[in-house]
Amino acid sequence: MPEIFKEAYTFDDIALVPQFNNIPSRTEPILDSWLTKKQKINMPLIASNMDTVISLPLADVLLKNGSIPIFHRFTNFETQAKWIKKYPNKVFISSGIKKETLDETRKLLDLGALGVCIDVAHGHSDMMMHYIEELKKKHPDKEIIAGNVCTGVAYHDLVNAGADAVKVGIGPGSICTTRMITGFGVPQFTAIIDCAKIAAKLRVPLIADGGIRTSRDVVLALAAGASSVMIGKLFALTKESGATKREKNNKIEAKYRGQASEDFQKEYFGCLKEKTTAEGVNFWAEIIGPAQKVIDELLGGVRSGLTYGGARSIKELQRKAEFIKVTSTYMEESRPRAH
Ligand code: IMP
Repeated sequence: MPEIFKEAYTFDDIALVPQFNNIPSRTEPILDSWLTKKQKINMPLIASNMDTVISLPLADVLLKNGSIPIFHRFTNFETQAKWIKKYPNKVFISSGIKKETLDETRKLLDLGALGVCIDVAHGHSDMMMHYIEELKKKHPDKEIIAGNVCTGVAYHDLVNAGADAVKVGIGPGSICTTRMITGFGVPQFTAIIDCAKIAAKLRVPLIADGGIRTSRDVVLALAAGASSVMIGKLFALTKESGATKREKNNKIEAKYRGQASEDFQKEYFGCLKEKTTAEGVNFWAEIIGPAQKVIDELLGGVRSGLTYGGARSIKELQRKAEFIKVTSTYMEESRPRAH
């Protein structure tokens, strides 16, 4: 009989213990980080490479703030080529792992993409490793982000194949139903901690992907060893996102959806892929406002978090991080309440 051998934690199960602070101001911490081995970023927030998230207007805001846009792959070659030509050597493109798409991906890289994010729902596979190896052999100067995975072994394998950054997260996304449909998935905090040990050893940046709701989650993910976090929902609900918008009761709403949702698959493929079940959902929600507001609020919280951690940088936060496991009443005590 296989045994149940380990406890694993979500962001809500964990808290950070404050550390001695000698940083005079909350504006002092620097949020520079690395997206990939060679690609520096000035802030650790990345928008998801999803069709309802990334757009040209959002890419502009991200670049202005020192992040790097990663375009999605759910459109034709010409559109993706146009995006790259607008931002030569400043953006990443995306790719799946089917052999037939290799030529197209190579052409897009040659047009001036900095690199490619190769991501599929379950990234620990031989198809993934072959795709990375093939691309790295032909484009050694381009950076490769690969994912998604949630174990140290998978992280190690993708780096061995040639990945310059690995995306971690199976199931934490706000539109994701993978865990409910399949029974598989590792709670995101533990997935980050486990993968971060390998990331640190191999010096290959970790991108924590999915499940970010507030700056609290960003601080925990960074402290656990992520170099950046990838965010879908919060960016989808901005004015600049790629999501369809509508006006309802004098409010503007956006439609956010998973790339494995029925809503998306029907539009993109004309129907659900044969013998598959959707592993994502879609929903309408009121928009938060301009993307700059989301970025400012998250970064403000992260900077403040760094001072509680006695840290001037993300690296220092990671070095000094002391985690405690909390009970289910911790979150209750932590939320504002009138009664
Ligand atoms: P969020 O920030 O919690 O909304 O999570 C966004 C992340 O969910 C993305 O960056 C993807 O990794 C993941 N994702 C996107 N579409 C799907 C889907 O249909 N099912 C499961 N996960 C998805």
